[in-house]
Amino acid sequence: MKEIELNLTKSSLNGHLEVPGDKSISHRSIMFGALADGKTTVRHFLKGEDCLRTIDCFRKLGVKIEETDDEIIVHGNGWEGLKEPADILDAGNSGTTTRLLLGILAGRSFHSVLIGDESIAKRPMDRVVIPLAEMGARINGRSGGRFTPLAIDGTQLKAMRYELPVASAQVKSAILFAGLQAEGETVIIEPQPTRDHTEKMIKQFGGEITRRGNDIIVKGGQSFKGTDVYVPGDISSAAFFLAAGAIATDSEVILENVGLNPTRTGIIDVLTQMGANIEVQAEDAAGEEIGKITIRSSELKGIEIGGELIPRLIDEIPVIALLATQAEGKTVIKDAEELKVKETNRIDTVVDELKKLGAEIEATEDGMIVYGKSRLSGGRVSSHGDHRIGMMLAVASIVAEGTIQLENPEVIAISYPEFFEDMNRLTQK
Ligand code: S3P
Repeated sequence: MKEIELNLTKSSLNGHLEVPGDKSISHRSIMFGALADGKTTVRHFLKGEDCLRTIDCFRKLGVKIEETDDEIIVHGNGWEGLKEPADILDAGNSGTTTRLLLGILAGRSFHSVLIGDESIAKRPMDRVVIPLAEMGARINGRSGGRFTPLAIDGTQLKAMRYELPVASAQVKSAILFAGLQAEGETVIIEPQPTRDHTEKMIKQFGGEITRRGNDIIVKGGQSFKGTDVYVPGDISSAAFFLAAGAIATDSEVILENVGLNPTRTGIIDVLTQMGANIEVQAEDAAGEEIGKITIRSSELKGIEIGGELIPRLIDEIPVIALLATQAEGKTVIKDAEELKVKETNRIDTVVDELKKLGAEIEATEDGMIVYGKSRLSGGRVSSHGDHRIGMMLAVASIVAEGTIQLENPEVIAISYPEFFEDMNRLTQK
């Protein structure tokens, strides 16, 4: 599919929806399942391209992984169960696969090579390679290990104390995986809290991780036990339907079993501050928080977004920018330089594509400014090979006064293979 024609103008959205499993948690469930002793059963796993790459990499590392319609079964044999891959490990478009695998492979006693697609080849890997090298890792790649392909000559690692220069859960997680194999106690300090799925899963698989003030502490030489994992719905996927429900007329969308881990719920805070008609009902759950979110058509107002909120909604900024075009007044998004190193430079791709539809939006050094409320037109836009840009533009077609031609929509399968089916089911003209 090279292009899709979207004409959702003036549709309303109604009904119940269960979005696919959380991408971050799905990746980690395979990784911990592979490193654990015994069987791990994963339910509501996200069968998106990125997570399928993680499965493929671990199969190449010698781990038996079975797929059924509704479960993934990982047969882990502990850290030593990972074997030298005869083939190159291909992470595709997935930054999480690439960076977390680096932390795992750095401490194994074999050689491996990691590549990704053309987007991955442009994304900075030195943010992981530099701290891992401090722990003794031997990783080589283009530009001194900044870019893939990366060759990992696994070795015994030593613990360290590391203050993260950027708020990144991928970097934190890579160091945690390295620390779990290192000699001694590794301490990580984050500039701001980021998603803590890795920490939660260490505990869920029977490992130990502690917090002392701002220090995150993990001891080396830990082993894990296989367990059952239920992956909550991805709030980052739900965000597109929260936005759609808020900007469409006569709408009420009820999202069930959505992950409500507080390190991920910045989008709910933003919608609330913008004045959206949103209700959240938390449910009892062991492990990751989960609940139901109801969104109805809303009158929105512009707000300022920055600081500690940014890591809690970093992946939702494209769709927040769209919301801001439909909000009364000015919205400022700042402290979000990290957008420049996502699947695309999301400051540029969001601003360029929304401008094509007539939005009043400008890029800044660390984010963007949006002036609402503006009437969006139809037009030809592109996902730029970025799943979240593609979904944001598809949602834009609800308020666009004409047809939108979206180039390269198939990339949406990276995180939400059933996106168009779900959208069609909920929309009525
Ligand atoms: C992720 C962390 C975030 C996020 C990405 C998934 C993870 O990236 O943007 O989609 O699973 O740990 P950074 O760690 O680069 O902020």
